[in-house]
Amino acid sequence: MCGIIARVGSDNGVDELLNSLSNLDYRGYDSAGLAVVNGDIRPTVVKCEGSIEDLGTRIDGRLAGSVGIGHTRWSTHGPPTDENAHPHTCCDGRIAVVHNGIIENHESLRERLVAAGHRFDSETDTEVVPHLIETYLKRGCDPETAFRRAVGDLSGSYAIAALIGDDDTVYATRSGSPLVLGVGDDEYYLASDVPAFLEYTDRVVYLEDGQLLTVDPEGYRLTTFDGRTLDPSVETVNWDPEQAGKGAYDHFMLKEIYEQPHALRQAIKGRVDPGTNELSLEEFEEGAFADVSDVQFVGCGTSYHAALYGVHLCSNRGIPAAAYLASEYATSQPRISEDTLVVGVTQSGETADTLNALREADRAGARTLALTNVVGSTAARECDDALLIRAGPEIGVAATKTFSSQVVCLLLLAERLARDRGLDESSSDLFAALDALPDAVQRLLDETSARSIAERYSGANSFFFIGRNTCFTVALEGALKFKEITYEHAEGFAAGELKHGPLALVTPETPAIGVLDGPDREKTRHSLAEARARGAPVVAITCDPESVDDVADHVLEVPRTHLELAGVLANVQLQLLSYHAAAMLSRPIDKPRNLAKSVTVE
Ligand code: AGP
Repeated sequence: MCGIIARVGSDNGVDELLNSLSNLDYRGYDSAGLAVVNGDIRPTVVKCEGSIEDLGTRIDGRLAGSVGIGHTRWSTHGPPTDENAHPHTCCDGRIAVVHNGIIENHESLRERLVAAGHRFDSETDTEVVPHLIETYLKRGCDPETAFRRAVGDLSGSYAIAALIGDDDTVYATRSGSPLVLGVGDDEYYLASDVPAFLEYTDRVVYLEDGQLLTVDPEGYRLTTFDGRTLDPSVETVNWDPEQAGKGAYDHFMLKEIYEQPHALRQAIKGRVDPGTNELSLEEFEEGAFADVSDVQFVGCGTSYHAALYGVHLCSNRGIPAAAYLASEYATSQPRISEDTLVVGVTQSGETADTLNALREADRAGARTLALTNVVGSTAARECDDALLIRAGPEIGVAATKTFSSQVVCLLLLAERLARDRGLDESSSDLFAALDALPDAVQRLLDETSARSIAERYSGANSFFFIGRNTCFTVALEGALKFKEITYEHAEGFAAGELKHGPLALVTPETPAIGVLDGPDREKTRHSLAEARARGAPVVAITCDPESVDDVADHVLEVPRTHLELAGVLANVQLQLLSYHAAAMLSRPIDKPRNLAKSVTVE
């Protein structure tokens, strides 16, 4: 999705702007641009279709300015071209604007502006914004009022940053798209996401919908839309800038797979005591969920698969639960009462479909909870409660460590719910297994043979992933990851469903990958045998290789663990399988085609 950056300082900040844009490139983009204030009445704009390196080549060290805005564009309205790249300007070039989101009423606004004599250079919805600001300036408004009034004409979702004339000020606002201010010692930054400027400052102010921010070298001012000054709290982000870099790894995805032992340690740190079987989630008081009657999970993609896993964890404890694809939630019209807990599972906390589902649940009177990785994200702020998964920044488009941390935190949440509702607590084996999980993942990472299996089958036609119960959700996740980064066809099936249709697709060219260690492993073994009988090469993921001697061509072994955690370990093997298959095929692993890390449009 598009990324915004702005930088306000007193020395030349073009390199910082370019670097911050590179830090945002994980979000996915197809064009990029910058505008800086340079003493002239018109900010200088440089933009192009292509990469940030292409933009740097165009700039060629010839651009200077201490105040500027930048953008990476992921096309929605109009193809990726130089003209459609941001920043967009008004007729006389005095106003430059970058925007994330979608302006829903852009067609009617454009008609009105064209009728009034404005000339448009792009096909984007964004371009109406500089022309609207220009209109209000011409009517005699000061820059801030012109910005306010222009934004007041918009409907849709947006985060906007603007430069107006030779003013050393950035004007910004948001509605439904994230925007965060970075407060440095001598500079300020504004971005869609903290990693953009994390190497310059870790002190941040999260903007809320309807707030207006003005930043100049002297300081910043945050107001409500009707002009009331706010006194926002400055928070410190505890992400290490090192974590946001690739280090010695070829790809962020691989780095993030290998970070899982650390991420899992963080997820459980101070929350479980295997000695006493105590569970303490600092976010909630004990008994906080005593009245919860049922749980509905909403999420998209990988987070939806974690949500499906969460349903089993709740059901195992006698808690009624269901998972919904966030984009289907409103039309599914699930029954909601004030005792229903709706949990938004979202790594970024900014996924538009998930936010909409949570808002729908809130309107219907449910209690809402965000299970997220990002402190201060929209989901964390809008929900009644938030439970942080503490996975650290995840840059690769393919979600890896956040899935593992989500599942572990869903397990903690399910256990908290059960205890608060007076149901039996799980035996101490579970917390002992949780405690041992990070080391188990490390062992798996040290010993995996996923690469050789990926190399052997990388030319196959299709890949089928099967499992039951929690391992079915992992099979779905394995298939999603595989197709997302290898571009090869992959499907996840409930093992029992294979014989009800998909078996017709099974041939010697379609490897079947079975996730075994969940409930009913014996039945999954049978399903693998059925696939093998049709000639499919079989890969079994299990802690008990001998038990699959007669059905599997290859085994990806995982350490033995508690039944409820087996899926987490199996999933790490599947992540590695996808990664190595994609690497074999030379795919752009961290930025798969057409995909974005954070999907902030519906
Ligand atoms: C997974 O690899 C994907 N990148 C995608 O499915 C992702 O999980 C989904 O878009 C949801 O994102 P969220 O967790 O940030 O809400």
